[in-house]
Amino acid sequence: MIETTATADLPPLEQVFNPFSAEYCQDPSPQCLALAERGRLVFYQPWQAWIMTRLDDIMDCWHKEYLSSDFYDWEFAPPRPPEDQWQNFERALIGHSLVADHDHHRLVRKVVSPAFSRNVVDDIQRRIKPDIVKLLDELMARDEFDYIQEVAVNIPFISITRMIGLPEKYWEEFKPVVMGFTKTWNPTISDEERDAARQQCNRAIDIIKEVVAERRKQPQQDDFLSMMLKIEAENDKFDEWDIITLTLALIGAGAETTMNAQQWAVYGLLKFPDQIAPALESEESFSNAFSEFQRWAMTGKMGFARYAPQDMEVLGQQVKKGQMILMMPHLHHHDPKIYDAPKRLNVKRKFEPEITFGYGPRYCIGAALAKRQLYLTFTELFKRFPNLELAEEPERDPTVHNTIALKKLMVKTNNN
Ligand code: HEM
Repeated sequence: MIETTATADLPPLEQVFNPFSAEYCQDPSPQCLALAERGRLVFYQPWQAWIMTRLDDIMDCWHKEYLSSDFYDWEFAPPRPPEDQWQNFERALIGHSLVADHDHHRLVRKVVSPAFSRNVVDDIQRRIKPDIVKLLDELMARDEFDYIQEVAVNIPFISITRMIGLPEKYWEEFKPVVMGFTKTWNPTISDEERDAARQQCNRAIDIIKEVVAERRKQPQQDDFLSMMLKIEAENDKFDEWDIITLTLALIGAGAETTMNAQQWAVYGLLKFPDQIAPALESEESFSNAFSEFQRWAMTGKMGFARYAPQDMEVLGQQVKKGQMILMMPHLHHHDPKIYDAPKRLNVKRKFEPEITFGYGPRYCIGAALAKRQLYLTFTELFKRFPNLELAEEPERDPTVHNTIALKKLMVKTNNN
């Protein structure tokens, strides 16, 4: 076992950095800055992983892709099962994966880019607006509600299912998969927890296959699955498993992220109500505000995982094949040397570089959709509730595996 990187006069890193501690949950910044001071690439013993601390190094890694994104390249990953034992989950995420082979990844990104164009995002907005309006209208009579339970958890699900074109009859069964999908990958949780999430995912894949089969019989031109089938028909190297993988990627990358972003953005806006109008001024203002919500909230716990494809030197350290390297761009989010008055939400703050959605070949495929979904929700929310305010200071939930979340976010409508 490798020990934490330590210098003679400093305590072991695990004593100063613990993302699962109550202190981190309350204010991660001091621990993150203490970690960043230890060096560019620091070994963190509790996770047996390296942590990349500097933004320029992270951007270089994102850009050049010199590390693997394939979970099965991790030294502690369960053995890659032989093909005759693959269940749905392995078939979707080995070989066909967006996160595996670089060449295939580039091909998939290229062929699916039309499915994420501005027109498509406009169309998804048109499709989800009635659901969002209905959801918020139903809250009009209330004096108080929990924004997370009543709104935040529902919007990503509505957006993703409407985007994919998943019929309502499957929604009940699909919902837990959408909200728990990232557990199928998280290298820092127990094997049991990960396996349970994978079993749910296997059932979700059966559902996606059923819907794909239905679409083959009756194509509907305006949803993601129908568009994917068209792409499949035009590209030899893009098949049904790519469609399934992509659908899962949308769920995995697009649900918890936006749910979390939403709760923190609303919390931030209600703490700094003078920022509501400038944030919602236009789509462009909102785009910048989105980065500020993410910076201010600083919810990261573990960053973005990569794995060493061979024994190699990385940023002056000898990294062994299979070791995990976590890129943590959030460490400096509240660094006063970088951001003036970092604890204040300032939606006009300039971000150079702007890395909220990553950088390079794996730049977030759903960035435009995420921003539009929140812009639409907040515009409708503050139209109905112009005097919305926090009913109480929200408590943070230390138990969420990959992010700092709020337990609930009680708001007063002041409408009645
Ligand atoms: C708050 C909202 C979101 C944030 C902050 C966010 C951020 C990111 C970041 C930083 C990456 C790069 C990860 C890495 O390098 O390992 C990424 C990748 C990705 N995101 Fe997002 N994302 C958000 C919402 C969404 C949504 C709504 C979707 C889809 C519906 C989505 C789909 C994806 C996919 C598929 C990837 C992998 C891309 C690839 O490997 O080529 N994301 N996202």
